[in-house]
Amino acid sequence: MSDTAERHDEVDEWTRTMLIYKSALKSINTRLDILSDEFRHVHQYNPIEHIKSRIKTPESIVKKLHRYEKDVTISDMVAYVNDIAGIRIICSFIPDIYRIAGMIENQSDIKILNVKDYIQSPKPNGYRSYHMLVTIPVFLSDEKLETKVEIQIRTIAMDFWASLEHKIHYKFKGNAPDSMWSDLKDCADMVSLLDQRMQALNDTILHTSAPHAESDHSKIEQEIERLSV
Ligand code: GTP
Ligand code: MG
Repeated sequence: MSDTAERHDEVDEWTRTMLIYKSALKSINTRLDILSDEFRHVHQYNPIEHIKSRIKTPESIVKKLHRYEKDVTISDMVAYVNDIAGIRIICSFIPDIYRIAGMIENQSDIKILNVKDYIQSPKPNGYRSYHMLVTIPVFLSDEKLETKVEIQIRTIAMDFWASLEHKIHYKFKGNAPDSMWSDLKDCADMVSLLDQRMQALNDTILHTSAPHAESDHSKIEQEIERLSV
């Protein structure tokens, strides 16, 4: 085969592979939409604050393959780079994270390859999140491809912290002053406390909302009565 023909084949293969990852993301996004609609319908409450998804850039894929000391080939990329398709689910409260993870696990055609619970066991820098590596089938005209998707589930507060940590990493290229890392670790502890306290408040609201609503309602009625006298 000529060099040009070989090059065309590679481009075709790359486009096809990326299409498969994009389809996997679409599929997971649709499943999450359905789950969140159903949950809202049944519980009048949405456990998902928002969702971000992305396909890894070719530059980042190559960087990762170098870091893993693998060949820069499509087959090594598919075999070793687990986060080509990535989805981040942001929730308000920690129990929502486990609820969503459970709902994903319950989907019979989604296979869980790996789970890392950095909420139970935070990273030394303070990073917290729930990670799942899953495969979801992508149906093409002539085959079914189990495709890897990395799912990160975290609270708004955890996401806020992770974004800042990422920014510091990026800006200082890993050479940020020690004081910055210890500040960041302090912030991570505060984020953890914030999550716990917000959750406790939310539990209180959930348990007492009905009587309060009633008493507010009757107060309003009394006020209307008073004004109309
Ligand atoms: P890579 O680090 O991606 O090679 O894989 P891994 O096996 O270490 O995966 P891990 O589950 O630890 O991390 C995967 C992804 O989670 C990363 O690509 C980040 O998006 C996110 N992540 C992990 N650790 C941190 C962290 O300390 N800070 C931030 N901001 N994000 C992190
Ligand atoms: Mg890592």
